Amino acid sequence: MPKFNSDFVFGVATSAYQIEGAWNEDGKGKSIWDTFCETEGKVARGETGKVANDHYHRFESDLDLIREIGAGGYRFSLAWPRMFPNGDEQREQRGFDFYNRLIDGMLERGIKPFATLYHWDLPQPLQDIGGWENREITKRFADYSAAAVEAFGDRVEHWAPLNEPWVFSWLGYGNGYHAPGVASIDAAIRASHHTVLAHNQAFKAMKAVNPNIKVGPVLSQMNPDVDDIFDPDQMLAARVMDATGSKFWMDGLFKGAYPELAVKHFGKVLADVMQDGDLNPVANDWLGINYYCNARIGHRVPADHPTRVRIIDEFLGYAVEGASVGKLTDMGWPITPYGLEDLLVRWTREYPDVLPPMYVTENGVAYDDDINQFGRIDDARRIEYLNDHLLAVSSAIERGADVRGYFQWSLMDNFEWAVGYAKRFGIVHVDYETQVRTIKESGRFYSEVIKSRGDNLTRTITEFA
Ligand code: BGC
Repeated sequence: MPKFNSDFVFGVATSAYQIEGAWNEDGKGKSIWDTFCETEGKVARGETGKVANDHYHRFESDLDLIREIGAGGYRFSLAWPRMFPNGDEQREQRGFDFYNRLIDGMLERGIKPFATLYHWDLPQPLQDIGGWENREITKRFADYSAAAVEAFGDRVEHWAPLNEPWVFSWLGYGNGYHAPGVASIDAAIRASHHTVLAHNQAFKAMKAVNPNIKVGPVLSQMNPDVDDIFDPDQMLAARVMDATGSKFWMDGLFKGAYPELAVKHFGKVLADVMQDGDLNPVANDWLGINYYCNARIGHRVPADHPTRVRIIDEFLGYAVEGASVGKLTDMGWPITPYGLEDLLVRWTREYPDVLPPMYVTENGVAYDDDINQFGRIDDARRIEYLNDHLLAVSSAIERGADVRGYFQWSLMDNFEWAVGYAKRFGIVHVDYETQVRTIKESGRFYSEVIKSRGDNLTRTITEFA
């Protein structure tokens, strides 16, 4: 039996910096990721997004791949510095032209565009005045958002202003693992608040240009898995992680107030940056959830990975070490499909009056399976991951969650930020020497999911430790 109705959007996702390349072509300005990649010791093996997947020049054939896979939606991002190289009012028409061609290319192929305005590539001149720590950025962002809707709003219905504000606030400004590489907890809190304000302001500016578009936040979320629920320290750590990670934005954006536990820890810094009316919620049309795995509290975390658990440990002093974890992906992340179902059901119950329809805007896994002697990429582990997470979405729908779509991360292997090209998330393999793309077996599997509306998904028993 089909598990998803005919309106459910099956899509694929990417982001500009991770695939476009052409970092200084056609008037594009420098972004903080261009600068970060040039800074020694920041990105594995000194890799950069200068060429990446060369998508800027190959977008037509990449769109053909999406069509071949059969995905009905494509979640992509616009590079702010391609359109406004200095982050001010000076426009670069060639940047707008590129996205016009890209969007028209999607529509010609029957692919519905879902646009993200900010997937971490801030124009460098805006970082030079403090980046997300500076309230001025929220105004610049609203202007840029309005200009994008003016240019593309006739063809793009679904818009997300910011991708994963937790990630770029905490990893960009908190521990410096991502661009711009600032390491200060106060900076992370200032940035976090400005993302909520920027979202609200951009929402209003975009709707003023075109009230027919649908605007919603895209948040990275994980549920806490607590090893010992009778251990009060672990339970408190779980609540703090939830409050500072997911609920800071869920409550901030949908209820207009930050969670008590976040205020308890960050009240002073928040009071410095907040002004009356900043948190007045807007009527978001949808919520995007990016889900990769749960956060395991009381389980041992791989030492080199800046997970949310490690962050609350490092910054707020919550002890979380404990038993070891089970199977891990190439990112060192656990595999916890039930967490996706839990989250979708949880928000349905916890935000009953304010929750808009949800989309899973990212979900996927890094494994480095390579081409075998038959020219195929047999990525059975990714097939299992996709199967289990899609079943989790379908179970959540059965349990009452209003989920309208699922976007697989990622259409193709790409520049995985600080860890560079070695971590491969694609359902399409990319040979970076030749730029040849090859659809992996998981891509073929996803095509079957789309064709059969999930009829080919099989209940498996995933091993959890
Ligand atoms: C980001 C992507 C990234 C993926 C895997 C998400 O946090 O939005 O840009 O590639 O996770 O790490």
